[in-house]
Amino acid sequence: MADFLSREFPMTETNFQSIAKIAYEVTGIVLGEHKKDLVYSRISRRIRSLKLHNFDEYINVIEDNNSSEFTSFVNSITTNLTSFFREPHHFDFLKETALPALKKKGKTPLIWSAGCSTGEEPYSIAMTLDNFYGGNTFGGAKILATDLDSNVIDTGRCGIYDASRIEALDTKIKQKYFKHLNDEVAVSDKLKPVIQFNRLNLLGPWPMKKKFDIIFCRNVIIYFNKETQLELFKRYQDALNPNGYLIIGHSENLHGVTDNFISLGKTIYQKK
Ligand SMILES: C[S@@+](CC[C@H](N)C(=O)[O-])C[C@H]1O[C@@H](n2cnc3c(N)ncnc32)[C@H](O)[C@@H]1O
Repeated sequence: MADFLSREFPMTETNFQSIAKIAYEVTGIVLGEHKKDLVYSRISRRIRSLKLHNFDEYINVIEDNNSSEFTSFVNSITTNLTSFFREPHHFDFLKETALPALKKKGKTPLIWSAGCSTGEEPYSIAMTLDNFYGGNTFGGAKILATDLDSNVIDTGRCGIYDASRIEALDTKIKQKYFKHLNDEVAVSDKLKPVIQFNRLNLLGPWPMKKKFDIIFCRNVIIYFNKETQLELFKRYQDALNPNGYLIIGHSENLHGVTDNFISLGKTIYQKK
């Protein structure tokens, strides 16, 4: 602990535990001991920006969930790592299995990207839909893209990214879906009407009335404990249509969490 006490703003064990408790209660994110450095650097930035003097003062501010700082606190503890066509086998599955199955049933796909971060995931889904249906129709599909972090939702809506983020993509995809603006790229306007970006805490109420055919919730549950995961998977089961698909991240699985889904392999599950 000496390390954290001798820094610019001393952070005691009690300070760290208070922050971890608030984060867990509100977001489900578990900030374990190994996250101390991350918490220290992100919260110090907030303390500096608010011109406060120490962690105690900052904790006093965020103990009020309605404080204007609370959103910035929540935004500061999320980890938003993502990329276009991350875990590409999921997009192959979408194109080769899920969309053909829905098309055969005459269904218009309703897809949820839950924990969408800065939007690369829902835009990759939209490009896959366009590729599958052609003719700029997207098969009438709609994508709901939600995240707890309001900053990433703004980035997603805007659809402008550093050009380096599309370097590894196939040339055809780059030409078809991105426009260069100096060092940045803008996603094609034709993808935007298909996606609705909204801020949503997965632990809070879900206002959506319709059920989904496919839910992507990738690299989100790794931040939660088993109890929160179980609760979330029960809700995903209810939020899916019969035979709907749930797609999770490469390091995640439903073992020991729920047996309400059949594994189709490669972290793809189908509602029983
Ligand atoms: C690592 S990113 C994953 C992004 C994308 N799904 C992917 O796999 O590339 C995890 C996202 O989950 C979001 N998240 C964490 N807790 C959440 C919660 N309680 N409700 C909604 N989103 C949450 C974070 O803000 C972050 O953007």
